[in-house]
Amino acid sequence: MESYSYKITGGKPLKGHVNISGSKNAVLGILAASMMVDGTCTLENVPDISDVHVMVKICESLGAKIETELAPEGSVTLHIDPRGIDTYKATDPGVSKIRASYYLLGALLGRCGKASLRMPGGCDFGQRPIDLHLKAFRLMGAKGADYRNINGGIITLNADPLRGAKIFLDIVSVGATINVMLAAAKAQGNTTIVNAAKEPHIVDVANFLNAMGARIKGAGTDTIKIQGVSTLPGNFTYSIIPDQIEAGTYMIAAAVTNGDVTVHNIIPTHMDPLSSKMREMGYTIDEGDDYVRVYRDPEEQIWGTNVKTAPYPGFPTDLQPQTVVLLCLSQGQSKMDEDVWENRYQYIPELIRMGANINIFDHVALVNGIDHFNCAQVKATDLRAGAALVCAALAADGTTYIDEARRIDRGYEKIVDKLKSLGADIEVASSVGFYVDTEA
Ligand code: UD1
Repeated sequence: MESYSYKITGGKPLKGHVNISGSKNAVLGILAASMMVDGTCTLENVPDISDVHVMVKICESLGAKIETELAPEGSVTLHIDPRGIDTYKATDPGVSKIRASYYLLGALLGRCGKASLRMPGGCDFGQRPIDLHLKAFRLMGAKGADYRNINGGIITLNADPLRGAKIFLDIVSVGATINVMLAAAKAQGNTTIVNAAKEPHIVDVANFLNAMGARIKGAGTDTIKIQGVSTLPGNFTYSIIPDQIEAGTYMIAAAVTNGDVTVHNIIPTHMDPLSSKMREMGYTIDEGDDYVRVYRDPEEQIWGTNVKTAPYPGFPTDLQPQTVVLLCLSQGQSKMDEDVWENRYQYIPELIRMGANINIFDHVALVNGIDHFNCAQVKATDLRAGAALVCAALAADGTTYIDEARRIDRGYEKIVDKLKSLGADIEVASSVGFYVDTEA
């Protein structure tokens, strides 16, 4: 894939209004779910991002027909007809490019009673096991649901029949919760997920499945009950919820540039973990029905604080890197405690190259406030790391080049256009070629 950089000249306060796109993590789960429908469906408010393009290609490789229509407001509408699916094997090379391809295990098990999947990819935060998914499928009667059965990087499950079960997740896992909901929607009998994840996109996937004809209750709480059905008729239109993480990234970009930005088309309660921390630090956050406005009183000091990531409704790990940038530009010492992923600080050496003063002790980053970031040549080590570097570059003195910007485009629709419309000086530049890309 062609490599390119973002060239950002910082120091311009972001001002104005920005519309948030549909949720990346919701639509990826929903696309997998749509492979189970016995009719057709239409998805609106789909973000036009590269992870979605990859997932659409994988679904097409199974035999699904997907038509893409550009919506006037910039997002995409997908018309999906999976009735031509003639395989249970998701072995397209795209599967190993994204994490969410693992939802096809649950979806294909539900649809075909069998599933073969190339091992999924995604951002590198250390170990990203799928043992909880496999353990749950085993309890539901799937044979082969064991790491020892991963031959040549491909796992094959076979359930004859797929049965409902009580699934206790000993770690709160977004992916395992969604995967079990998918398989259980068409399993024989009832499934209960105990200690389920509660993220907004869990609720969105459950709502979508219910619109297809599934019977799921309790999504958004820690106990989800699913009554298996034999058909999922479909033939409906569904609109994806707004992206909580994209919204939070623009809130932070506004704050670190001392700007004044209204972030539209969001669900403000999804932003509570971030909004409350930002208020505590000294920013003003005004909330409306579907927007938040972020700005600061120039007389008000911005103070550091302590943040710990946790499953929803805790502070989202996917906003951790951007929030560290926010903490860098505050007074005093702050503490970031990354409690979801074992290794999500690969971007910190890049921030240090821009002048950050951060020390890492295991999963805790101690952040000492600085006056400003310097420009530098840096690299987006993963999607949200890249978003954090964009925030830092927007606030920095001079011109920063962020290499491997394609990683940012995995999850941010039209980020260059949106930031430009807020007054940022950002453009796509040919790759600085400063780093060797080691991503598989
Ligand atoms: C999803 C999101 C990702 C986000 C994460 C946590 C998608 C496509 N990705 O990832 O952006 O950072 O939720 O909000 O939606 N775990 C196990 N065994 C398993 C599964 C998970 O030990 O089988 C552990 C993980 O190592 C991690 C924790 O559980 O420490 C949470 O992971 P999980 O919620 O499953 O993350 P993902 O679904 O992969």
